[in-house]
Amino acid sequence: MSTHISVPPTLLLERILTLEIVRVTERAAVSAARLRGHGNEKAADQAAVDAMRRELNKLPIEGTIVIGEGERDEAPMLFIGEKVGLNAGPRVDIAVDPLEGTTLCAKNMPGSIATMAMADGGTLLHAPDVYMEKIAVGPGYQRGVVELDASPADNVRRLAKAKGVEPGAITVLVLDRPRHADIIQSVRSTGAAVRLITDGDVAGVIHCASPDETGVDMYIGTGGAPEGVLAAAALRCIGGQMQCRLILDTEEKRERSHKMGITDPKKIYGIEDMARGDCLFAATGVTTGSLLSGVKFRKDVIQTETVVMRSVTGTVRWIRAEHRQLEKF
Ligand code: FBP
Repeated sequence: MSTHISVPPTLLLERILTLEIVRVTERAAVSAARLRGHGNEKAADQAAVDAMRRELNKLPIEGTIVIGEGERDEAPMLFIGEKVGLNAGPRVDIAVDPLEGTTLCAKNMPGSIATMAMADGGTLLHAPDVYMEKIAVGPGYQRGVVELDASPADNVRRLAKAKGVEPGAITVLVLDRPRHADIIQSVRSTGAAVRLITDGDVAGVIHCASPDETGVDMYIGTGGAPEGVLAAAALRCIGGQMQCRLILDTEEKRERSHKMGITDPKKIYGIEDMARGDCLFAATGVTTGSLLSGVKFRKDVIQTETVVMRSVTGTVRWIRAEHRQLEKF
């Protein structure tokens, strides 16, 4: 008897695309890594963008960039609305941050990554490049265990109770910025610890998904909206909760977001509001950080490390690759 299971064509393509997007972030990471420590953020970003665009254009997809590069950085963009791919295959939304942590890469500091997410067409939030308030925790808690509008101290206490520990056993990851002084003070007032990072809140949010390994229970703070959507796509795959709100504090930003279909400027977005449908997420280390090893250039081999995830199955793969056809990089 045949054991053949018929798989809908779109699902089959998605599976194939899981590996394809690894190639995209690997090549962007290698290109950026060549400029690690050169002190030139724009050049590193440009290199990553160019490599990512080149690779995306080889994929059998009808892709649209919905989260793009550059508005805030004034970097050469993979711009919002840009069409990528071979214009054949599934219609997909693509979110990119070809070099997340441009400063980290330029200064050769830990934690810069090349990252992207891909989802069914029309299922990723089209967010403008503005700031976004964010709170995230990992899987295993009841829905609403923490809330964006509760104080950081309250959220620490609520999370500690749900986890069955004292607040002092909780660690909250926060971007080290003067604007976060009140958050840091509020968290510490409970006895909880704050871990500060200088950049890179996509990886920051992902850290919450495995607190036993990372020691991070919660992410709180304001960062880029594009990074928020990418982090939401990752949490869709690995589990967890996230609440976000765009900071649309000028008429210009409200108009810009309105044009992108955002009608309620104060809306609180959950993960599913930012990444519905089936989605894939990949990130390759540029500089070594606590999530991923950076690119290593050996004599005849380039080594990369990538994490790639797929929401429909929840599969997370860690791919350490050795690239020998160096001319392709
Ligand atoms: P870039 O790679 O665009 O420099 O972003 C790095 C980052 O740290 C993000 O992870 C974060 O969301 C954002 O910058 C925070 O913005 P700012 O540096 O303006 O506080």
